[in-house]
Amino acid sequence: MRTLLVTGGAGFIGSNFIQYMLGKHTEISIINLDKLTYAGNLENLKTVEHDDRYRFVEGDICNAEIVNRLVPEADVIVNFAAESHVDRSIGKPDDFIKTDIYGVFVLLEAARSNGIQRFVQISTDEVYGSREKGHFSETDPLMPSSPYAASKSGADRLVYSYYVTYRLPVVIPRSSNNFGPYQYPEKLIPLFVTNALENKKLPIYGDGLNVRDWLYVMDNCEAIELIMEQGRDGEAYNVGAGNEYSNLEITRFILDFLHKPESLMTFVEDRKGHDRRYALDIGKTCALGWKPRHSFQEAMKETIQWYCHHREWWEKLKSGEYLEYYRKQYQNRL
Ligand code: NAD
Ligand code: TYD
Repeated sequence: MRTLLVTGGAGFIGSNFIQYMLGKHTEISIINLDKLTYAGNLENLKTVEHDDRYRFVEGDICNAEIVNRLVPEADVIVNFAAESHVDRSIGKPDDFIKTDIYGVFVLLEAARSNGIQRFVQISTDEVYGSREKGHFSETDPLMPSSPYAASKSGADRLVYSYYVTYRLPVVIPRSSNNFGPYQYPEKLIPLFVTNALENKKLPIYGDGLNVRDWLYVMDNCEAIELIMEQGRDGEAYNVGAGNEYSNLEITRFILDFLHKPESLMTFVEDRKGHDRRYALDIGKTCALGWKPRHSFQEAMKETIQWYCHHREWWEKLKSGEYLEYYRKQYQNRL
């Protein structure tokens, strides 16, 4: 039995990853350490909460005491924990610096003193910054534009330094924008789908021509697992799908699918320092034997339908009721 310490597992990608791993393997157990910030949601993990192989611990990755208690139980650490929303990092970067950099330092120190077999740092394509043409490869310089991307870049290179200096066996997946079920309705796709369902305006920043490469979260989970198992120590791996769409194209897809009028689109002031385009060369990850398996159109339709069928999940988040409820329910397990 191998034990994974998954940090930030109550968020969007982490919760998908936990369900994916427990569904696929019998011989693993998972400890999920999550602070339950506004973005952490235990409802994402209802399908596994009674699984004997799964344990939830509420706590902060910046808290060395909790981290040092859990790391000796683990063979592998997969760190998803982060403040993850660019707009929030522009408004108030403080927690991004704390969690995304200092928290990673705390995890690395614990990993080093406990001889962890693998440290997987979930990084992002945003570390490279913006690019009008061509694709970034893993050896390109990091030129982050937002406090979010800069804090993730700091962590990305700090993790690398623990490989160079201490030979800690780290790998660093850098993925493009994910979409799928359980994504907090502040990010483009879930915000626009849920706003459209409520007949609210869809606020498009600037001219709406910024481009992202949209990756279905299940394809990312498969890539993370493969990189965790077969990636080379100290190496970063780009994970993207080649689904380059402008925000306007994404918006029109959502409105068409839901039969909602284009009059819901509203152009608002641009995000400060808004990256124009992200694009990745994924050859290195494909060489490990991975490729994205889901078509963008099909995965988008399934995702939109998921939000249509899980109104109670996102309505609570949009109304802010949720955290209060779960804090009470889980306080005995702290
Ligand atoms: P998310 O915001 O949905 O989830 C983050 C999780 O981390 C939440 O459960 C939150 O409670 C937890 N958390 C925050 N601070 C913590 C702390 N100090 N200690 C413990 N837990 C803490 O984020 P996500 O979209 O699932 O992203 C997960 C990871 O993937 C992040 O590291 C992010 O940078 C990276 N990433 C995300 C995307 C994307 O499109 N969402 C793309 C590339 C990389
Ligand atoms: P987002 O989902 O926040 O991801 P990221 O900034 O990490 O790429 O935003 C995706 C794109 O959508 C980005 O170009 C900003 C844009 N956007 C809007 O136009 N309106 C919105 O309300 C949001 C949240 C994002």
